Amino acid sequence: MKELLRKMHTWMTGYMNQFVTDDEEVMQGIRIKTEHTGYVTAIARELAQHLSLSEHDVQLAEMMGLFHDVGRFRQYSIYKTFNDSQSEDHADLGLKVLAEEMPYMGDLSAEDADLLCYAIKYHNKKEIPADAAGRRLLFARLLRDADKLDIYRVLSPFLDPEKADQAPRFMKAKSTDLISPEFIKAFAAGEQADYRKLKTLGDRRLVRLLWVYDVNFGWTLKKMVERGYIQKVIDHLPEQEGVQTGVDRLWAYIEKKCAAADDVSAYIKERI
Ligand SMILES: [Fe+2]
Repeated sequence: MKELLRKMHTWMTGYMNQFVTDDEEVMQGIRIKTEHTGYVTAIARELAQHLSLSEHDVQLAEMMGLFHDVGRFRQYSIYKTFNDSQSEDHADLGLKVLAEEMPYMGDLSAEDADLLCYAIKYHNKKEIPADAAGRRLLFARLLRDADKLDIYRVLSPFLDPEKADQAPRFMKAKSTDLISPEFIKAFAAGEQADYRKLKTLGDRRLVRLLWVYDVNFGWTLKKMVERGYIQKVIDHLPEQEGVQTGVDRLWAYIEKKCAAADDVSAYIKERI
């Protein structure tokens, strides 16, 4: 497995390099995704170690981080966007890339290949399917957490007004700073909002806070707090009625979640 993982790293580096171009605007996107891949790979590994998974499973988690956004590169080269709704779902596209181009898929055991594909497929969906269980659920949750933690890093600098202008085109906000009433309502109630109804920059920022409720492990949430990602988003919210109620609820939730231990024995016992 270790040797296989090494070969996969080499393949992925070469694959990402194929997308290097002279077009500076395209390169901004490619660079962000290449860096994000590196960070998510390292975080997935670290989280798996924190959860005391076996060395095999730690390596499998690393592999998931490595390939989770492989579809982003083909997506950008074909559609020139990272917006799934304006192109195609980048996780599903990633699975196609792996099946068609990654020469080592056949070297994985059937169970590992299933877990890898499952976690990648559901890393970006609104929810993991309700019938997910056992190791599928564990790895899908692990990868979603690793990805979210790094997305906060990627997005954080663009909260600063002086950096906002340097944001790549695909990250630029559309309109006003205020949050739409239905998003405030969901935030105050501690509920998820309908992301398709995103309208303003304020809505986008608020959604980043709603992600907190979808973080699976206290470990991940603690890192988000320690690195100041959550406070920074809160600091950049507009002063609107209902926002403070949502913020108070959010901190109470975070405190509780961080105090609980991350116990994975239930997933491991229940083999799929
Ligand atoms: Fe992704």
